[in-house]
Amino acid sequence: MIVEARGVYKSFKEVEALRGVDLEVDEGEILGVLGPNGAGKTTTINILTTLMRPDAGEVRVAGIDVLSDPGEVRPLIGLTGQFAALDANLTARENLVLFGRLFKLGARKAMRRADELLEEFSLAEAADRRTVTYSGGMRRRLDLAASMIGRPRVLFLDEPTTGLDPRSRNMLWDVVRQLRGEGVTVLLTTQYLAEADELADRIVVIDKGTVIAEGTPAELKSLVGGSVCEVVIGEHLRAQVSDVLAQRWEITQTDTKVIVPAESAATLFDVVRTLDAQRLVPDDIGLRHPTLDDVFLALTGSATSPAAPAQESTSTAGPA
Ligand SMILES: Nc1ncnc2c1ncn2[C@@H]1O[C@H](COP(=O)(O)OP(=O)(O)O)[C@@H](O)[C@H]1O
Ligand SMILES: [Mg+2]
Repeated sequence: MIVEARGVYKSFKEVEALRGVDLEVDEGEILGVLGPNGAGKTTTINILTTLMRPDAGEVRVAGIDVLSDPGEVRPLIGLTGQFAALDANLTARENLVLFGRLFKLGARKAMRRADELLEEFSLAEAADRRTVTYSGGMRRRLDLAASMIGRPRVLFLDEPTTGLDPRSRNMLWDVVRQLRGEGVTVLLTTQYLAEADELADRIVVIDKGTVIAEGTPAELKSLVGGSVCEVVIGEHLRAQVSDVLAQRWEITQTDTKVIVPAESAATLFDVVRTLDAQRLVPDDIGLRHPTLDDVFLALTGSATSPAAPAQESTSTAGPA
């Protein structure tokens, strides 16, 4: 394995951000670190990338001890943080050449590397525009390009698509897959199950500073089924509806919904028939892709914090 963390602890005064995080990344794979706001994702990345020291634990990158030899680790890694480190008044090309020079490349080499990266990250056409004029997606790609200047073996991406529109997000996913194709190992954090599912070979779920689950996307999704049937129901009918559905399915519940794991639309039809037979009419019912919230519900029996992203509806039928 190329990245290894064991029993990593970190407190900020009374806040215990990490309470014994263990994780491993194999060379050439994409590991998704999935968790809600405040779970400890950024703190984990900061420690793995030498920006922060843990209170306890062991961290290795490519077999090198990150805590005792941070200077040897830095040339091997690239980092794209939640907040970009680019100069908005420079063009993309100027930014990349500057980064290249900081990486101690000669003037000509820095220019050549900038050209390569502009091409690779689909920024060649906009290369000589000041980055102030860039869209969020372009800026994020430039950020990624900058972190690839030194050809790192391991790339750390902290919530690379948060705040991007769907099209930019898809472009960024393509770039990440391309990097993996070139043999780069990637550790990325995300709040979205769908994103981890798209990109990651393996997912580590963290909550409140500890790893609460680990597996392939398929393994995690099997906890919640291929999709979920969501029944929105007023409080006066909740107990009745959940009793009826619990007789046939492994349901989970939130304050306003009963959630049934669904293999296909057939489950939705089945749920509708089951409720209809009891003359129970929900406020809303529909089928959607499972989210981080569903995984949390299945794992812990409670939903993530309110800061978690809104659920992505796929299709929703009106009230039955
Ligand atoms: N510099 C800091 N000072 C105080 N508390 C912090 C600091 N950085 C992070 N925290 C706290 O540590 C916890 C984990 O934060 P973070 O690693 O940023 O989570 P995530 O990236 O998953 O949203 C949160 O409760 C956060 O408020
Ligand atoms: Mg963060």
